[in-house]
Amino acid sequence: MTRHKITVRDIGKKYESGRKLTMITCYDAAFARIMDKAGPDMLLVGDSLGMVIQGRRNTLEVTLEEMAYHCRAVSRANPAAHLICDMPFMSYQISPEQALESAGFLIREGRGESVKLEGGEEVAESIARIVKAGIPVVGHLGLTPQSIHKFGGFVMQGRDEESAARIRRDALILQEAGAFLIVLEGIPATLAEDVTQSLRIPAVGIGAGPGCSGQVLVCYDMLGMDERFNPRFLKKYAALHEIIENAAKAYVSEVESGAFPGKENY
Ligand code: KIV
Repeated sequence: MTRHKITVRDIGKKYESGRKLTMITCYDAAFARIMDKAGPDMLLVGDSLGMVIQGRRNTLEVTLEEMAYHCRAVSRANPAAHLICDMPFMSYQISPEQALESAGFLIREGRGESVKLEGGEEVAESIARIVKAGIPVVGHLGLTPQSIHKFGGFVMQGRDEESAARIRRDALILQEAGAFLIVLEGIPATLAEDVTQSLRIPAVGIGAGPGCSGQVLVCYDMLGMDERFNPRFLKKYAALHEIIENAAKAYVSEVESGAFPGKENY
């Protein structure tokens, strides 16, 4: 059965009704086709693809063209879920004009339906500019991976009063700038709940506890593709690494033994 295409307005209505919002990352058409069947509200083509797909140590080398490439691949599955595309490092930090141009590229070439960018007050003008051009924007606060060198690694944010106050204030600034949703990543659960309560737009959390308006996880993480990655915030809903390894082993062994291709395969 085809699902109704989810719009920013639908997301707002679901939030207002008090139901939890669901977001999963996705990077290609094959996964998008399957993921969308599960009925998430949003698919996020995250720049986390730099780590889970490209095998990089962080997200900083991902380019605008790579984001558009993956987003376009996801869009080819025609997901009912609202399709968000991450703006990669240095595609929006230079000026509001650069941010608008990059956002336009992701919508036009990547066929995204909204864009997400990291940061607080410093990106407010860019958000306002993009929103004014008719492109919905998602904000992202807390442990924002594009700032790991400032943080000294993937370190939880908002632990001291100064950092918590900045996150509280930035969330309101992003809302004022026109963001329709904010991702809260890697902050204490009590802070995330406070911030969520202070807003009239949804806040979707990752590593931010249960008090947010919804949750997001990286699909490769929640599917258990990497047995070495086990942070506390992550729940693995499958162990795909095992399933894939066993399937590949069976194939290798059957080719070597001559069991594949069998009579039914030709
Ligand atoms: O890049 C990404 O996948 C993200 C999510 C973790 C929110 O930004």
